[in-house]
Amino acid sequence: MADKGFTLWFTGLSGAGKSTLSETVARELRAKGHKVEILDGDVVRTHLSKGLGFSKEDRDINIRRIGWVCQVLARNGVVAMAAAISPYRAVRDEVRAMHNGNFVEVYVECPIEVLSDRDVKGLYKKALAGEIKNFTGISDPYEPPEHPEVAVHSGRESVAESAGKIIAALRERGLTA
Ligand code: ADX
Repeated sequence: MADKGFTLWFTGLSGAGKSTLSETVARELRAKGHKVEILDGDVVRTHLSKGLGFSKEDRDINIRRIGWVCQVLARNGVVAMAAAISPYRAVRDEVRAMHNGNFVEVYVECPIEVLSDRDVKGLYKKALAGEIKNFTGISDPYEPPEHPEVAVHSGRESVAESAGKIIAALRERGLTA
C-alpha cells in the first residue's frame, strides 16, 4: 500500500496552516513507509515559479506547474503534497483531472478574522492597509472547494486533530495503512 502514489492537495488562505499540516501529515506517512514530497507555494515561488506574481494569470501558471510536478511524482509512487493557496476552483479541478482519480483535496478552512488576528507573517495588516494589492481574502478572491475529500477547520481544531482527519480520509480510501 505504501508504494501507491497520489496527490494530497491543500488549499486555503495564507496562514491557514497548509504548510504546518502538510509537514505533520508527511511525517506520519513517512513513518508508515511512504515516500513523500511537499511542494509548498512559498518555496516553489523561489525556484520553479520564480518571477511569477499574484495576478490570476500568474497564480494559475503557478498552480498548473505544481499540479504537473505532483502528477509526475504521484505516478512514480510518491505521495505528492501541494501546499499553495490555489484560490481558483477551475484550475484546481484542472489539476485534479490530470490525476486519474489519485487526487485528494484538503480544504484548510479558517475564518479571515482569525487569520488577520494571528497574522504570523504580518501580511494581513499590510493588505488591510492597502500596502499589498490583490491579497487573497482581502482584496483578491478565494473560491473554496465545493466537494473537497477532506475539510479541516484550523481556527478551532488542533494540528493533531486536523492531521488525524486527513489520515483517516486516506485510510478510508485505501491510500495508507
Ligand atoms: S497561489 O495563489 O499562487 O497559490 P502561493 O501559495 O504560491 O499562492 O503563495 C502564497 C504566499 O505568498 C502567501 O502565503 C504569502 O506569504 C505570499 N503572498 C505575497 N503576496 C500575496 C498576495 N497578494 N496574495 C496572497 N499571498 C501573497
